[in-house]
Amino acid sequence: MQLDHPHTMTLSERADELEEQMLNELNEKIATKSVLFTLGDGKVEMEGGAALQAQNPGKYFLMGADPRLPKMPDKPTLIDFMKLRLPSINHLLQSATHALKAGLPEKAVLACLLHDIGVVGFIRCDHGYWGAQLIEPYVDEEVSWAIRMHQALRFFPDEAAGYKYPDVYTKYFGPDYKPEPYIVDEYQRARKHKWYGTARQICIYDIYSFDPTAKVSLDDFVDIIGRNFKQPKEGLGWDNTPSSHMWRTLNWPTRFL
Ligand SMILES: [Fe+2]
Ligand SMILES: [Fe+2]
Repeated sequence: MQLDHPHTMTLSERADELEEQMLNELNEKIATKSVLFTLGDGKVEMEGGAALQAQNPGKYFLMGADPRLPKMPDKPTLIDFMKLRLPSINHLLQSATHALKAGLPEKAVLACLLHDIGVVGFIRCDHGYWGAQLIEPYVDEEVSWAIRMHQALRFFPDEAAGYKYPDVYTKYFGPDYKPEPYIVDEYQRARKHKWYGTARQICIYDIYSFDPTAKVSLDDFVDIIGRNFKQPKEGLGWDNTPSSHMWRTLNWPTRFL
């Protein structure tokens, strides 16, 4: 969009004008909340397209980027998503830093770095499965397998490996919480698997108490990501893999269809 008289405006005037343009861009379009967002408010509800458009006469639905969200590059990388779509990566950085300092192999460090990408980028329920699926086409199979399995393993202590049931889980879920049968079954399958140790390492290096003073930086992991995450040249979402649609949805969460 053209700015009026860009040379004669001060920077702050220009910023105001850009902000106004962004609001106008959204005002011209209708951003929609999917069913999952309203389920999250405890309501089984959905407004149909015709009703929504009737409330916004003369407007079309948003079919792309939501101007209220940080602008994503045309060919987004994992790091772009981490910086622009994940509200907090501190937990991931703290866990991965811990793993890095312990001298774990790069694959395991990457698994720690991405272990909760499901929670911090998408959805809490079954986050290990969602996170694994999201990154599966781009990482060694062992990495996504370990992330998938940490979903179940974190509920089961392995004292020999140095993992006890987290105190914070007792605090969060109560002393009587028992993992559901599907989690128990998954744990039993994972226990016998050749990569059990890698999934267990995620639990061991997971940070169960948030430390606001810990000094961590994504910069420490750029090279490990570069070597172990196959960034598609088209950008995540535009690369035709089984999880491309998930990246596109994260990029454009309010697209109408
Ligand atoms: Fe987790
Ligand atoms: Fe975690």
